[in-house]
Amino acid sequence: MSEFFIAPSILSADFARLGQEVDDVLASGADMVHFDVMDNHYVPNLTIGPLVCEALRNHGVTAPIDVHLMVRPVDRIIPDFAAAGASYITFHPEGSEHIDRTLGLIHEQGCKAGLVFNPATPLDYLDYVIDKVDMVLLMSVNPGFGGQSFIPSSLKKLEFARQRIKQSGREIRLEIDGGVKVDNIGAIAAAGADTFVAGSAIFGAAQEADPHRYESVIQAMRERLAAI
Ligand code: DX5
Ligand code: ZN
Repeated sequence: MSEFFIAPSILSADFARLGQEVDDVLASGADMVHFDVMDNHYVPNLTIGPLVCEALRNHGVTAPIDVHLMVRPVDRIIPDFAAAGASYITFHPEGSEHIDRTLGLIHEQGCKAGLVFNPATPLDYLDYVIDKVDMVLLMSVNPGFGGQSFIPSSLKKLEFARQRIKQSGREIRLEIDGGVKVDNIGAIAAAGADTFVAGSAIFGAAQEADPHRYESVIQAMRERLAAI
C-alpha cells in the first residue's frame, strides 16, 4: 500500500455550497473526503455531524469519506456515522474510555478504524491494538482549527509511526493532518506518510467558479510526491 492519497478537509470549504465543493474537489483529483467533526468540548470548535455526512452521500458522493472524530465521548456517535456512509472513522484515544472496545465498535459497524495522535500524544497507545487499526492519523497541529502551521516534530513522529506499521506487517494507512502545503508535502511523504489531509491549502487556493479550480494545487502536490 504505497499509493498516495490526498484527502481535502472540507473544514475549509464553503459550507453554504458543500455538495458542489466536494464534487469539485473530487473532479479536481482528490482521493477522499476528510470530514472533521468537532464538539466544542474535546476541542474548542463546533462543526458538522452525521446528517451532513448522509447529505453528501445522498448528493451522490461515492468517494471514501474519512470521518475524523474530535469528540468526547466518542462511542455514542459511531453507529450514526456508519449509517450515514462513513468509510473510515478515526478517533482520539483521549476521547474514549475503552479504546479497544471503540475500535471493535467501528469494525462491527462495517467501517475502517483509526487512532488519532495529537502532537504530544505518545504512539504507545498502538502497543496492544495495532492489529485492530486500519489507519494511524498523526496531527501535525493541535486539533480544532484549520489554517495552522505544521509542527516540525511531526516528521520524526511519522518515522516512528512508519516503523511500527512496518513491524506490524499489516496494511495500515499513515495519515497526516494539519498545515500540509505544496511546499512541505514532499518532506512529509519522505518521513513516511501516505495519506495527506489538506484544508486551507486546497480550498483556499481558488475563488472562481470552475469545477476544476482545485486541480492546480492538487497536481502540484502530486508532482512533489512523485519526486520523493
Ligand atoms: C484540524 C483538522 C484538520 C484541518 C486541517 O483539527 O483536523 O483536518 O482542517 O486544516 P489545514 O490543512 O488548513 O491545516
Ligand atoms: Zn482532521
